[in-house]
Amino acid sequence: MRVLELFSGLGGWRFALRERGQVLAAYDVNEAANATYALNHGEVPVPRELAHLSLQELAGHGADTWLLSPPCQPFCRMGNHQGLEDRRSRAFLHLMDLFREAPPERLVLENVGGFLGSDAHALLLDRIRAHGLHWLDLQACASHFGLPNMRPRVFVVASRKPLIARPLPQLQPEPLGAFLDAVEDERLYLDAETYARHGFGMDLVRAEERRSTCFIGGYGRRFVGSGPFLKTERGVRRFSPSEVARLLGLPATFRFPEQLSLEVRYKLLGNGLSIPVAAWALDHLT
Ligand SMILES: C[S@@+](CC[C@H](N)C(=O)[O-])C[C@H]1O[C@@H](n2cnc3c(N)ncnc32)[C@H](O)[C@@H]1O
Repeated sequence: MRVLELFSGLGGWRFALRERGQVLAAYDVNEAANATYALNHGEVPVPRELAHLSLQELAGHGADTWLLSPPCQPFCRMGNHQGLEDRRSRAFLHLMDLFREAPPERLVLENVGGFLGSDAHALLLDRIRAHGLHWLDLQACASHFGLPNMRPRVFVVASRKPLIARPLPQLQPEPLGAFLDAVEDERLYLDAETYARHGFGMDLVRAEERRSTCFIGGYGRRFVGSGPFLKTERGVRRFSPSEVARLLGLPATFRFPEQLSLEVRYKLLGNGLSIPVAAWALDHLT
C-alpha cells in the first residue's frame, strides 16, 4: 500500500500500518501534532489545511491508499451533530471532491459511532460506489483487544478487492495496573477541593479493575465525562500521558517533544487511534 495519511495527528495510522505499506505523505494542520509525528516517525507532515489541498498536489504523491481520521466533533455524542454543515467538515467535503477526480484504490476512514448513518457517511459511500469499490462498515472497541479501556470506533474500509469482515478478538482486558508508570507523578493528584466539586460524576477506577471509560481530548481540563481517574490509597489522580499512551496500544518507544504541555499531550492522545484496533481494520485490506 502506498499511503496518504490524512488528518495524521500523532501518526496512529502509521504506527498501525507497519510492514503493510509505506506512508508517502502525512497531512495535519496542528503544529504540536506535527512535532510529535516527526519525533516518532522521522518525517514532518505537510502542515496544510486540507480544505485547500490541490488535485495536483494530491495526485502528485502517486498514492493508492487513503488512511484518514477526520475531526469527530460533528458526529460526537457530546458534539453538535451538524455533520457536513459543521465547519470542521470542510476538509472532508473537499477530499470527497478530490476523490471524484483522483480516487484511491483503497481507503480506511476512522471515526466515532455517530459517523455511521450521517450525511458524511452517505457522501463517502456515494463516492466509493461510483468508483466501483467494495466496502465494509466496521465497529470495534479497544476493550475487545485486551486493553482495559473503552474506545468504540467505526471504520469504513473500501477496496477494489472484495472484503470479508474479520471476527473481533475477544481478549480478556488486562488489569489497569499493568499500564501504570513505575513511578507516580505526584502532580497528577487532584486537590481536595477539586475532588469535592467533581468527584460525584467522575469515572473512578482502581488498578485491579479491567475497564475504564474513553479518554477524550479534554481530559487535561475536564473531570466529568472526559475519561477515567485512578483511585489509590493516596487519593485520586489523572492517568499520566504515558499511561494513556499505553492504554491506546502505542509502542513503548512513543514519546512527546519535551516542550509540549500536559494539556496538549492529553489532547493529542484523546484525538488518537487505538493502535491494535486500527491494525485490525487495516488487516481487512491484506
Ligand atoms: C481525530 S484527529 C486524528 C488523529 C490521528 N489519527 C492520530 O492517530 O493521532 C484529527 C486531526 O486532524 C487535524 N485536522 C483537523 N482539521 C484539519 C484540516 N482542515 N486540515 C488539516 N488537518 C486537520 C487535527 O489537527 C487533528 O490532529
